[in-house]
Amino acid sequence: MAKYTIGLFPGDGTGPEVLREGIKVVRAAAQRFGFTLETPEFDFGGDRYLRTGEVLPDSAIDEFRKCSAIYLGAIGHPDVKPGILEKGILLKTRFELDQYINLRPVKLYPHVDTPLKDKGPADIDFVVVRENTAGLYTGLGGVQRKGTPYEVAIQEMVYTRYEVDRCLQYAFEYTRKRNKNKTLTLCGKTNVLTFVYDLWERAFHEMGAKDFPDIKRDYAHVDATTMWMVKNPEWFDVIVTGNMFGDIITDLGAMIQGGMGIAAGGNINPKGVSMFEPIGGSAPKYTNLNVINPLACIFAGQMLLEHIGETEAGLCIERAVVALLESRVLSGLSAKEIKECGMSTTKIGDIVAEYVTKV
Ligand code: IPM
Ligand code: MN
Repeated sequence: MAKYTIGLFPGDGTGPEVLREGIKVVRAAAQRFGFTLETPEFDFGGDRYLRTGEVLPDSAIDEFRKCSAIYLGAIGHPDVKPGILEKGILLKTRFELDQYINLRPVKLYPHVDTPLKDKGPADIDFVVVRENTAGLYTGLGGVQRKGTPYEVAIQEMVYTRYEVDRCLQYAFEYTRKRNKNKTLTLCGKTNVLTFVYDLWERAFHEMGAKDFPDIKRDYAHVDATTMWMVKNPEWFDVIVTGNMFGDIITDLGAMIQGGMGIAAGGNINPKGVSMFEPIGGSAPKYTNLNVINPLACIFAGQMLLEHIGETEAGLCIERAVVALLESRVLSGLSAKEIKECGMSTTKIGDIVAEYVTKV
């Protein structure tokens, strides 16, 4: 029987609540599909930082390396200055484990409301492949004469050919495997960022022409991409882009697929240890109220299982969530709506876990 080590990393705010439901569903899938899980827990996050001053020690990264994958709740604490936990935990893990891909599906499920008028599940179903360890996020730059009228601040967008190529390689392969419209769109800004996105564009067409003649190549500037995502989301199959643009367009993506309650993502190192998370954050004001939506975290569990090779189990989780949505017991996906219709974080987890045993 296959056995996996899933590192549980609940984190801050509502992270522990959604992860509890996520792992409940993943365990139900493990039971049905005949594999076992070992689940070491990691308690890093805002509370531990405030108590001990420790953010994420290198020894934790070594422990992560022993896992088949990491399952994260959320990072972000209202009493901790912005940046400390985000950079010290989330970005440190992405960088140290070389999770150079951030995979973010944008999929509208049946009976989920989208703010886009006249668009439905057939129109909103694409995936963003965001480069995840370079670009503006490397932290290269500096500040001089801080606080004076002559202050200089520099934060550089850095890309090497190697970083661009490995991201494109993943994106082309993913587009082929996804086998939908076999179209990969490069999202850039070649009209202004004439060094960095010129590199991306040349690398994109060279690799596509040489190794992926079956994949149609398309290009859109990032500003236009946000426009098309709202006006004609059905045009997209897979979008590949740099770190900063990917961060921005995937929040827009989350909104058109029904909000932060449902959007999941994977920080992927194709040859190493990957980390899966709901992308919505720690929502501190809903902590311990049992009203936060666990579906995003449950979908992150689906992605995790598919990533470690338990594809059938992952697809079963997706069917189980669809069954829940079709049962119409939820009148909406926000905390407010979950409360209003008499549902709760734990009830949603219980129902999905139950469906996993039978759909
Ligand atoms: C995300 C988040 C992070 C990012 C923050 C919290 C550092 O917004 O995962 O999209 O910018 O990548
Ligand atoms: Mn973001």
